[in-house]
Amino acid sequence: MALHTQDTARAATLRRPQAPPMAHPSPVAAALLRWLGLATTMGMFLVLVMGSLVTNTGSGKGCGSTWPLCRGQFIPQFAVSTLIEWSHRAVTGVVGILIVALTVGVLALYRQRREIQILAPAMIVFLIAQAILGMIAAGHDEHPAALALHFGVSLIAFSSIALTTAFLWELDGVEELRDRAAPRGVAGLIWGSLGFTYLIVYLGAFVRHVGANLACGIEWPLCNGALVPPLDLLNSPVGAHYAHRLAALIGTLLIVALTARAYRARGQRPDLYRGSLVALALIILQALSGAIVLFSRIDLLSTLLHSALVTLLFGCLSYLALHTLRRPASRVAYPKH
Ligand code: HEM
Repeated sequence: MALHTQDTARAATLRRPQAPPMAHPSPVAAALLRWLGLATTMGMFLVLVMGSLVTNTGSGKGCGSTWPLCRGQFIPQFAVSTLIEWSHRAVTGVVGILIVALTVGVLALYRQRREIQILAPAMIVFLIAQAILGMIAAGHDEHPAALALHFGVSLIAFSSIALTTAFLWELDGVEELRDRAAPRGVAGLIWGSLGFTYLIVYLGAFVRHVGANLACGIEWPLCNGALVPPLDLLNSPVGAHYAHRLAALIGTLLIVALTARAYRARGQRPDLYRGSLVALALIILQALSGAIVLFSRIDLLSTLLHSALVTLLFGCLSYLALHTLRRPASRVAYPKH
């Protein structure tokens, strides 16, 4: 019986496609790339928070309707909104260069890994998508649906960079846990929470761009004194605001269920349990920061906190999603760092 199991395992290994052997990257190049990944992830985080600062301070027109130039100039004459919008564009430009460098680096060193074959083009595609949406936002009359889309695309761009960085830091280390199957139910809850969080984000960005931030009044969890607003108000700013809150509640419950399920499987997959605990903490803080946005009557810092936390939450759930995927059979072993 044991012999039979061994034979089956050997046969499965033989069936797996093997990548052609490749020279190991030098430890210095590998270390440089890891730090470049970290710097790019932090830079992209800054881009997202600054993007939120642009919309929260109404600086979207700080550069007029020209892109990539600002008021038709490379370095514009400053007003506060111009300064905010221009520094957002400048930081985005620098981070764009870092992203291209990171993409070239990971393709040069690790192109035979399936994760890199997906993440490297994703970093570039979403960088371009983000720039195009930024251009649409600056050039046209800031349509709420387009602006709301911008936030979600930026989150995916952030996650593709964060996952590439996680990949680089986990090579032949923590990533080995991915060889153990993700327990039944946990993988589904992780992917479900990730997709659902994207929906909450879209609704949140929509709330902000249609100006429905205070449509439920300065109160939470009640909305204008009621637990459920009158049905005839659902197709109004109140409906948009309420949909965001309701989706936030469902998203929180999903992550609670994920954490409970991952807790039971913590011996087999401690990585998924630890990650789900972080996601739980982040979504609770996210909901509290949403309440602070209301109680502070849309204070700038509170809205920046709300955007920063959701970036971390989405990054954390993306990381968990990556960890539900088995390491590809075609990997080659790299020296441990
Ligand atoms: C728990 C999951 C939540 C997520 C993932 C989330 C996410 C978001 C996002 C991405 C935005 C758009 C931010 C921007 O465009 O800069 C937003 C806006 C907003 N959210 Fe949430 N949110 C959550 C919970 C809540 C809760 C529970 C409340 C209310 C108590 C709330 C109230 C708001 C308000 C008022 C805005 C508009 C803020 C503004 O005008 O800048 N959110 N949310």
